[in-house]
Order: sequence, then structure tokens, then C-alpha cells
Amino acid sequence: MEIVLTGKGGPEMLRITEGAKPRPGKGQLLVRTEASGVSFAEVQMLRGRYPLQPKFPFVPGYDLVGRVVDGEGLPAGQRVVALTRTGAWRDEVVIPAKIAVPISEDVDPGVAAAVAMNGVTAWEMLHVTAKVRAGQTVLVHGAAGGVGSLLVQLARLAGARVIGTASAGKHDLLRSLGAEPVDYRKGDVVAQVRALAPNGVDAVFDHVGGKSLDDSWSLLAPGGVLANYGSAGTLRDTGHPLRPYVGTLRRMAWWQLRRLVGLTGRRRASMYYVKPGAGFTKALTEVLRLVAAGSLTPHIDRRMPLTDAVKALTLLSTGQATGKIVLEA
Ligand SMILES: NC(=O)c1ccc[n+]([C@@H]2O[C@H](COP(=O)([O-])OP(=O)(O)OC[C@H]3O[C@@H](n4cnc5c(N)ncnc54)[C@H](OP(=O)(O)O)[C@@H]3O)[C@@H](O)[C@H]2O)c1
Repeated sequence: MEIVLTGKGGPEMLRITEGAKPRPGKGQLLVRTEASGVSFAEVQMLRGRYPLQPKFPFVPGYDLVGRVVDGEGLPAGQRVVALTRTGAWRDEVVIPAKIAVPISEDVDPGVAAAVAMNGVTAWEMLHVTAKVRAGQTVLVHGAAGGVGSLLVQLARLAGARVIGTASAGKHDLLRSLGAEPVDYRKGDVVAQVRALAPNGVDAVFDHVGGKSLDDSWSLLAPGGVLANYGSAGTLRDTGHPLRPYVGTLRRMAWWQLRRLVGLTGRRRASMYYVKPGAGFTKALTEVLRLVAAGSLTPHIDRRMPLTDAVKALTLLSTGQATGKIVLEA
């Protein structure tokens, strides 16, 4: 069984089909899916606005948790996490063995799915890109979302003060996670953040993109870091899907140039993109260790069967979800 995204439109463009029985080839594993995340990437893919997405029809699903059934590299029965980008919303999936990260039996597959792509993204941006330290102040955009709610918790664990943007209905969640909420829908985010942090912030995590990047940059204190990792604010744009990223690259190049000649007060900006490999494995191991220790608890909005993918994507794309929706096979 698989969930196919048949074309551009709303979540109703998803279809449940039988699909062909996948068989692993050389260097591949057949994995029986236990859980997979629903993410903003699928919302963008529905609109044909995710950079370099496959041609319709295709099976979405950015990450998975499952058990090896057959193939090379890992024993049958081993539980793994994999970052697939697409293709995970199937009950059985063939993946390259090199992207399979073995994980412990003790981890709840739904929890592992909630922290797979999102936890690694949050951890790497916080500790590798921005190198946030105790006593610093950070701004997390979309702080009630799948990545954002983990970023808030990880930043708090690192000893930082956290200001988070979200729609007003989600501010209680932000407070419960230890963040000071700002309602981005009220407008003038810069003024609202400045009221809380008059000297600026040490890091901004910005998934909104476009003009928001200029605002985020303007909020940095000397030595501060802007980490851009998405373009959610340009979802309704028309034109080529890569266009918003051209604007981002232009901004990045300009700031880098100014930094090289010493005009940014040591501020820097960086684009982040999660990918499989040694860094992913390291960050996932660290994130799962924090989960096992009870220090990090992903906020799972709900767990739904894979066959409810239409409902799940409807909830996420209409802003009705907080934290992560997990599909379970
Ligand atoms: N670069 C990477 O490697 C990478 C990896 C993972 C995710 N991402 C990106 O990260 C972002 C979040 O993904 P996700 O799966 O966590 O999404 P999500 O769960 O849907 O969360 C997104 C959040 O963004 C908020 N939001 C929407 N427009 C906003 C705006 N203009 N200003 C501030 N917040 C806004 C929404 O808040 P309200 O509901 O309160 O309106 C929502 O909670 C997406 O852009 C995704 O593409 C990038």
C-alpha cells in the first residue's frame, strides 16, 4: 500500500493505491515502515513549490522509522531511521542501505519519527550552524511547528533565552516549552522582538524566507547568526519554485561580502539543508539520547494511520496542527 501525490492541488490529490511490491537491489534495504512524519515539505510539494521535487505522480514522505525486512548491510529485524525526502509513505520501502541509521529497540517509532528530520534539523542548526551558548538570546520563527518546537526545547536545554513567533492560539504551547511568544500575524515582528530584546538576539532561525530574512538580519546583535532553512512565507507565490531561493542566495552573498570587508559587526548568515550522512547520524544519536533521558519531548499533535494521510496533510496545511503529526503504518 502506498500514498500517491497525483498532481498539484490540495490534500485531496493524495490517493491510496496498492503499489508494486518493492524488491531491494544491490546496496539496498527493504524496510517495513512503522512511522513517518508529515512535514511542511509535503505542503510545498502539493503546490509544486518544493525545490527539485519529483514530477507528479510520486509517493511523498520525507523520513521513516521502520524495520529491515531484507537486503544488504543490516540484519532483518533491525529498527532504522532514514531520511528519504520522498517515498516514505508506503507500508514497505526500498532505501539505499547507506542512508539507514540503526536505532535502539527501546525507542517508540512515533517519537523517533517526530524527531528524525525535525530533530536533526533543529540540533544541527543550533549546535553546528549557530553554536548557541548558555546566556544567549535566540529567536525561533514558527516556534509551535514540528522543527520550531524542538528548536525551542534544544535552545532552552543549551541555556538560552528563547523568543518564539507563532499564531496567538499556539502561545500557551510556546510558554509551556519555555519560550516568550510573539504573534507574527499581528505584524511588525521586528518591533515586537525589539521590545523583548532591545539589544538584538544572538541567533535567528528563519524558515519564512523572503523579506523576513531582512527583518531577521536586522535583529542580530553583533556576532549574531541568521540560520535560514526554508521559504514558508513564499508558499503562495507564483513563478518558478526556485525563484525565492535566488533571492535568498543574493542576500546571503551580499551579507557574506560585507562580512569579508568587516562591515557586519561579525554577524553572519547561513542556509541550512538537512541531508543523510555522518552529521545526520551524529545529531540523531544525540537527539535520541536526550529523548531517552527525558530531556527532550517532541510535541506530537496526533498519531494517525498512514491511510489518513489526506486528513493529516489537511490539518498541517491549514495551521490546525502544533508540533508534529506522525503517520503510523
Ligand atoms: N532546510 C531544511 O533542511 C529543513 C528541514 C526541515 C524543515 N524545513 C523547513 O522548516 C519549516 C518548518 O517545517 P515543519 O515541518 O516544522 O512545519 P510546520 O510543522 O508546518 O510548522 C511551520 C510553522 O510555521 C509557522 N509559520 C507559518 N508562516 C509563518 C510566518 N510568516 N512567520 C512565522 N511563522 C510562520 C506556522 O505557525 P502557525 O501555525 O502558528 O501560523 C507553523 O507552526 C518549513 O519551512 C520546512 O520547509 C527545512
